[in-house]
Amino acid sequence: MKNEKKRIVVLTGAGISAESGLHTFRDKGGLWDEFPVKEVATPDAWEKDKAKVLHFYNLRRQQVREAEPNKAHYALTELESDFIVNIVTQNVDDLHERAGSKNILHLHGDIKKSRSTVNQHLLYELDQKDIHIGDKCEEGSQLRPHIVWFGEAVPEINNAKKLIEQADCLIIIGTSLEVYPAADLLYYLRGGKPIFLISPEMNHIPDGVTFYQGVATDQVPIIVKKLLNMHDLEATATFKNNFKDNNMSEENKGPYTKVDGKMSDRGIWAAEMDPEAEDKFDKYLHLVAVNKAAKAEIARRELDAIYEELLEDF
Ligand code: APR
Repeated sequence: MKNEKKRIVVLTGAGISAESGLHTFRDKGGLWDEFPVKEVATPDAWEKDKAKVLHFYNLRRQQVREAEPNKAHYALTELESDFIVNIVTQNVDDLHERAGSKNILHLHGDIKKSRSTVNQHLLYELDQKDIHIGDKCEEGSQLRPHIVWFGEAVPEINNAKKLIEQADCLIIIGTSLEVYPAADLLYYLRGGKPIFLISPEMNHIPDGVTFYQGVATDQVPIIVKKLLNMHDLEATATFKNNFKDNNMSEENKGPYTKVDGKMSDRGIWAAEMDPEAEDKFDKYLHLVAVNKAAKAEIARRELDAIYEELLEDF
């Protein structure tokens, strides 16, 4: 059994910030209803009416400033105790950062930064400020928002692909998966590994994806809890397997006297035990659950249900 931590990539879109008060783009009444894409989010729009584009992003920045991370942003940070977690976000807000996530890749830019229009490597922290016509970079060009517009390259896409190729699990939250290349990223997860998708509604659910229908603040904490419990179960399985192989010291044996069992190829305990041992296994799992309850408040029944569900997912 490997002891290294599993890798989870979380791909987020506007939906995770919706309950923080930031509008999504394509929902009814979304941003693109009020501000047509072609007028504010393309290189042509910038050429045609810079003031209008700046106004649109100044408003976005102001709203981000007033927003706070929500339960979904915070729940994701908990995964970092047991997993290597990378957030790949299409969002230009900083709510993942403010919630405390460590590894965040912004695919579509960062609303809190401005950029030179002659040298894309010249970036400036705006902090809370607006960008005005006449604000210039050190090479004398008008500053623009550090945002990837429609029709522009997505410089971070290869880094995002690499992260997903190395992942053991992908969680997708609050994106319509209608904008490419981000919408293709899920296909870089290798070998039928689990993909969870959280959204209140989707036009299309890609094959092989487990859909958790609902809002992010409800569903993300549920999935996070499941994944943390799975980690506990795997740790229990390792314990059991070691015990079976007589690799464990007397004091670490817990309540067991005899267990016949084997590890499944998925690293999850698939036990065949005699009734006496099974009873002890149950008691042990209960103890594990009760101990972990201090952290997660899980009863054994719930653990069993989660275990069954994870067997299907993994
Ligand atoms: N919780 C979770 N998901 C939600 C919630 C919520 N509370 N509210 C809405 N959603 C879902 C919607 O059902 C929709 O599927 O979030 C998704 C938002 O989709 P879009 O508005 O298309 O946003 P996104 O997918 O992030 O857009 C991708 O397109 O406009 C460009 O550059 C912009 O990064 C953006 C990209």
